[in-house]
Amino acid sequence: MTETDVDPDRAAELRGQMVDALVADGMIISAQVEAVMRTVPRHRFAPDASLDEAYAPYKAVFTKKDAHGVITSSVSAPQIQAMMLEQAEVAQGMRVLEIGSGGYNAALLAELVGEAGEVTTIDIDPDVTARAERLLADTGYARVQVVAGDAEDGVAASAPYDRILVTVGAWDIPPAWIAQLAPKGRLVVPLRIKGLTRSIAFDHAEDHLVGTSGQVCGFVPMQGAGRHQEQQVLVTGTGEIALRFDDGLPVEPSSLDNAVRTPRAESWTGVGVGRQEPFDTLQLFLATVLPGFCIMAVDPDLDTGLVSPSNKWFSMATVDDRSFAYLTTRPTADPQSVEFGVHAFGSGRAALAETVAAQVRAWDQEQRGGPGPRIEVHPVGTPDDQLPAGRVVDKRHSRVTLSWSAAPTADDQAVPHTPTAQGE
Ligand SMILES: C[S@@+](CC[C@H](N)C(=O)[O-])C[C@H]1O[C@@H](n2cnc3c(N)ncnc32)[C@H](O)[C@@H]1O
Repeated sequence: MTETDVDPDRAAELRGQMVDALVADGMIISAQVEAVMRTVPRHRFAPDASLDEAYAPYKAVFTKKDAHGVITSSVSAPQIQAMMLEQAEVAQGMRVLEIGSGGYNAALLAELVGEAGEVTTIDIDPDVTARAERLLADTGYARVQVVAGDAEDGVAASAPYDRILVTVGAWDIPPAWIAQLAPKGRLVVPLRIKGLTRSIAFDHAEDHLVGTSGQVCGFVPMQGAGRHQEQQVLVTGTGEIALRFDDGLPVEPSSLDNAVRTPRAESWTGVGVGRQEPFDTLQLFLATVLPGFCIMAVDPDLDTGLVSPSNKWFSMATVDDRSFAYLTTRPTADPQSVEFGVHAFGSGRAALAETVAAQVRAWDQEQRGGPGPRIEVHPVGTPDDQLPAGRVVDKRHSRVTLSWSAAPTADDQAVPHTPTAQGE
C-alpha cells in the first residue's frame, strides 16, 4: 500500500478506534500515552499492511523473517507498546534509548519527550534501521537518532538515559544497560525468567535494579551477543513431548527415558480458576519453588495423546531425577471455572504430583491476587548474602532474584517426596 492509496480520514478513524479500545481495556492509562497514540500515524510505519491490520489493537505487524521463516522483526502490537510506555512513565525533556527499532515506537517516544528531549533507537539489523530511519524522516521524526548495531553494549555516545526501553525479548541484562542508565533512571525490558517472559519496569538502585511491575508479554528473541538458547529434553523417542529448560538441565535427560511408559498419576488441587482469569503469578510462583521447573510443549503433528495438558503449546511442568509432571485442568460444576490438577509420569510420579499440587495450594492461599514477586537484578559475582531472600536465577551477566512476601525458596518450600500409594 503506498501513501497515496491511503484514505487519511479512514486511517484517523481506525486510529481513534484503536486508542478507544486500549483505553476501555485499561491498557492505556495516562493522558500522555493516549495523546501520542492518537497523534502518531501508525500505518505509515507498516506500509505493507492494510489499514485494518496496522490499527488492530492486539496484533503486531511482522516486517521481517529469517531464512527459516522465523519472525525476526515486527512493529509490535499497540497493546504491548501502550503497556510498556505506561510502565516507563516517559516525560518531556527526557533522554531515551529504545532497543529494537521499527520506527513507530520511537515516534511515540519522540512525542512523549518533546523537542527538549532526545530519542536514540538501535537495531542489530541494518535493513531494519534503514527502514526505520526512512519512515521516521517521512513522518516528521527525523530528530530520532537511529543506530545500527548490537545493543549488548548499549549506545554509550548518547548516555546516560533517563529511560531505556527494550523492545526485544531479553534473557539477561548486559552491564552496559545498567551503566548507561541515569541514577534515577528506569529500564523497561521483556525479561525471560525460567522460560516465562514478563515486561518489567526496573528502577536504578546504584549497582542493581529493582523491579516495580511485571506484565505478561511475548517478543521476538534477542539476537547477537545476548542470544540465549534454551535446552530441551525429549521424553519420547519420537519428539512428541519436549520439556524446555531455560537455565541448564537440572537432571540427567536419560533418567526420564522410560517415564512416559508408566501409568499416569494424578493429583487434583481443589483450587479453581475462572476460564478468563489470569494466573501469571502462579507461573512465576512455580518457577520459584520447583527446582526442576520447565515448560512442556507437545508437537501437534506427532501428538498421540500421551499427555493432556490444557495448553499443548505451553504448559508449566517440572522434573525430578526419575519423573516429570505438568499442570492441567478439569471442568467443575461451575461452567465458568476449572480446577487445577497435576499429571505425572515416571517412578516417582505420585510424590512429584503431590509436590506440585501442594505448591498450587500454597500459591492459592498465600500469593493469589497479590502483586507477584519483587524482582531484582544484581551483577554477576554478587555474594549470596548480599542478595535479597528468595530464589536466585543465575544468568551470564546478572543474578536475578524473585522474592515473595512470604519469601518461599526452593529449599524451604519443597514438600518432601513422600511416596504414596497412588500411581506408584
Ligand atoms: C519487535 S521488534 C522492535 C519493534 C519496534 N520497537 C517498534 O517500533 O514496533 C524487535 C527488534 O529487535 C531487533 N534486535 C534483536 N536483537 C537485537 C540486538 N542484539 N540488538 C539490537 N536489536 C536487536 C530485531 O532486529 C528487531 O527488529
